Amino acid sequence: MKKIKIADDIHMLSMNVSDMLFEGIWEIANGVTLNSYIVKGEKTAIIDGVIGWDGVPETLYSNLEEIGVAPENIDYLIVNHMEPDHSGWIESFEKINNNFTILCTDKAAKLVSSFYGNSGRIKAVKEGDTLNLGKGKVLSFHPVPNVHWPDTMFTYEADTKTLFSCDMYGAFGKMEEHHFDDEMTSEEIEFYETEGIRYYSNVMTTFTSMLKKAIQKSKEFDIKIIAPGHGPIYRKNPQKIIDDYTRFSQYAVGAGKNEISILWGSMYGMTEKAVNFAESILKREGIKVNKLKMPLESESEMIATVFKSAGIIIAAPTYEYKLFPPVAAAIDELGRKRITGKAAFRFGSYGWSGGAEKELKEIIERNNMKWDFVDSVEFEGYPKEEDLIKIESGILELIKKMKDKTVE
Ligand SMILES: Cc1cc2nc3c(=O)[nH]c(=O)nc-3n(C[C@H](O)[C@H](O)[C@H](O)COP(=O)(O)O)c2cc1C
Ligand SMILES: [Fe+2]
Ligand SMILES: [Fe+2]
Repeated sequence: MKKIKIADDIHMLSMNVSDMLFEGIWEIANGVTLNSYIVKGEKTAIIDGVIGWDGVPETLYSNLEEIGVAPENIDYLIVNHMEPDHSGWIESFEKINNNFTILCTDKAAKLVSSFYGNSGRIKAVKEGDTLNLGKGKVLSFHPVPNVHWPDTMFTYEADTKTLFSCDMYGAFGKMEEHHFDDEMTSEEIEFYETEGIRYYSNVMTTFTSMLKKAIQKSKEFDIKIIAPGHGPIYRKNPQKIIDDYTRFSQYAVGAGKNEISILWGSMYGMTEKAVNFAESILKREGIKVNKLKMPLESESEMIATVFKSAGIIIAAPTYEYKLFPPVAAAIDELGRKRITGKAAFRFGSYGWSGGAEKELKEIIERNNMKWDFVDSVEFEGYPKEEDLIKIESGILELIKKMKDKTVE
């Protein structure tokens, strides 16, 4: 756990976590940080306390002591969001501190009680409620429901103009030496943008309509620092992460970078021949191609890559009268994440009956994905010259459809 001073009397405690599945699902290739914040006035508040995945709170306590905070003297625990990655240590904390108040939304209060027991020390806060810690540090609370869970809120500190945004404005990716946007190299900035897309698409995108409201709400504050629960702190240019999240919210409904992702699978290489052909056409057209071979690709990477692309090619054969199952599962997962409005094109091989196309339509329909498809191309066995000609014109049509969806 690292201790980083953000401003006078405000510190971040940050833990790198890897080799785990985030939410029990996501293989986070580059790990993630869990950030916690301490604000000291005459009274002391801890916002979103974090412990390691090993569940050992002693690491948190010893780190608090190193920044001059005795855990048994903490007055307030601010729970911006009850999800256990931020609040899993409450039970342990109650054993060493018998005199603190938990501040959270009424929805979080219910969750804290049902997950950790009703401690009788919870105070629910409403929009605009404040907590004066003394020495000029005043916190205010601002619910942003369904920024991940229904209980979430922002906490704003007026003296330093810091927005503690919890899951909002977060990113995956461990932090090694650098924690602030102004310390980062251009490679690191690009790394956290990519990890931000992975985080948004894996964890947050289902809630895009509510995230848009939270983006609007952010604009009501005079912000100098954005301090999220995961990933870097923005103090040189907090507007950057607000702009990035605005762009990500557009990716969720069909926009994307000028890239095509080929989501594909092939049993005996027939469809693969057409994938290789498609790749050569895309290279000729100067479009960046991302190949996602299923089922080898991780779900996390698959979702992040499709999410950020303005165009999608689905290349998969018929299997037992349906769409090749790993590709069908991937599209279904994209539908569950409500990734809508993508420009798309499918081709694939079949042996005798076909059936892949019918199932693809069912999946798109069932999940109300509203993807904008170019006419599919199906071929018997290997792709013949006339099939490749149709595939080429399908790709050119897809590129046209992408034009007004491209947002870099
Ligand atoms: C397990 C299995 C099930 C299949 N089921 C069907 C089917 O229901 N209908 C059909 O038209 N072809 C079916 N096929 C044939 C494939 O669609 C055909 O071999 C196609 O060329 C495979 O393309 P690929 O080499 O890209 O995987 C099946 C093939 C396998 C191996
Ligand atoms: Fe969360
Ligand atoms: Fe979180």
